[in-house]
Amino acid sequence: MPKRAKLAAQHPSAHDILIVISKTSLSHRLRQFLLAFHPPARPVETTRLTPYLTPAQLALFRQLQGSEQWHALLMLDKLTASGADDRHLLAAALLHDIGKIHYPLHTWERVLIVLMKRVSPGRVQRWGQEPPQGLAKPFAVACHHAEWGADLASRAGASPLTIELIRRHEEAVPPEAATHTEKLLRLLKQVDDSS
Ligand SMILES: [Fe+2]
Ligand SMILES: [Fe+2]
Repeated sequence: MPKRAKLAAQHPSAHDILIVISKTSLSHRLRQFLLAFHPPARPVETTRLTPYLTPAQLALFRQLQGSEQWHALLMLDKLTASGADDRHLLAAALLHDIGKIHYPLHTWERVLIVLMKRVSPGRVQRWGQEPPQGLAKPFAVACHHAEWGADLASRAGASPLTIELIRRHEEAVPPEAATHTEKLLRLLKQVDDSS
């Protein structure tokens, strides 16, 4: 193998990262970055949330960073616009990333995770097993926020189905998966990936 190709295989380079970005939808990435850098200054209106969350769950939701609250609301809006009305799914849309409140991330850490998941998912998994400190923190959050979130949602009285959707929202869903829970999980992941 030529030396340059060998190096590229071992370490993510700026070239790898550019390829990743070019393969993703630019408008989607742009929207994500704009939301992360410039979330609307106003908070998400409480009246948008109370149909889906109990007071305890709403208090939890309010601990999310502003951009994450708007991301969750965007997912809810996409689901309801597409006709989804399962209350367990809609609550999961709002609370799916709630585990991130344990270790709030800087924007650059979130961008790093998105890129590294594409460039070197094995490293994300490996580094994510380290204690959530220093440079390992974003990777630990990426790997564990779903289970942390399920635990928080459970303490806040979420339904067993909402808790399961939160716990599994980062899992790959096989195309042949066809249980009711798996269908909801697929919908949740679709809007998460596009919001
Ligand atoms: Fe997540
Ligand atoms: Fe998300």
